[in-house]
Amino acid sequence: MPKEYEEFYHLETERLLLRPFTEADYPLILRISSDQATTEYLYFWGRIGSTPESDAKRYLEYAMDSWSASPIRAREFCLVVKETGEAIGNGSVEWAADEPGTAELGWILLPGHRGKGYATEAGRELIRAAFEIMGADTVIAHCDSRNRASRNVMERLGMTLRETVPEARPAKRAGEKKGDECTYALNRESSSPPAL
Ligand SMILES: CC(C)(COP(=O)(O)OP(=O)(O)OC[C@H]1O[C@@H](n2cnc3c(N)ncnc32)[C@H](O)[C@@H]1OP(=O)(O)O)[C@@H](O)C(=O)NCCC(=O)NCCS
Repeated sequence: MPKEYEEFYHLETERLLLRPFTEADYPLILRISSDQATTEYLYFWGRIGSTPESDAKRYLEYAMDSWSASPIRAREFCLVVKETGEAIGNGSVEWAADEPGTAELGWILLPGHRGKGYATEAGRELIRAAFEIMGADTVIAHCDSRNRASRNVMERLGMTLRETVPEARPAKRAGEKKGDECTYALNRESSSPPAL
């Protein structure tokens, strides 16, 4: 197995393991997709016409497939609290479309596991993986401009706002306004994310 593939199986932080998803993670994913407040600003989830079950199935297939693509295009990680073994959310890193050398990050936590620094802790390890394993020059992350919690994670990771594109996010419900999309970025040379 090539080194870059092997290393993705050993991502961890002080408190978290970042591991591949399996079918046994369906209940976690269904909890995420069933919570409208959690999916409110997410591009992939809760689109018009989808159901929590169809979203969960679609995501889990995508997440598991992300581990078999060659060469690496994306990796979706299940975040697990080391101390308890509990699966609490996801973290992701993938090559950004149309931006060579740039990797895109993402994170979702179950509501009961927020406010503890887990997303920032996982994000720091994802940045390390993007630079050291994938060889990316830049990492970016997108979010709806109203998603203050996610913007805070990006800022804690040392990422800076690159642009805000009006109405680039799909509306979640018929008749609703589309959201504006923020993109945050961090270059490899300036990457020394501040401590939590
Ligand atoms: C975005 C999301 C992952 C952020 O979660 P979060 O818990 O706010 O972020 P972190 O896990 O990094 O935790 C940081 C918070 O924990 C606090 N904290 C408590 N104990 C801590 C510790 N030991 N270490 C670090 N931070 C700690 C920090 O002060 C911070 O609180 P604050 O935001 O009130 O200042 C979460 O809101 C979420 O899942 N949202 C829905 C999905 C989503 O929108 N994802 C992003 C798509 S772009």
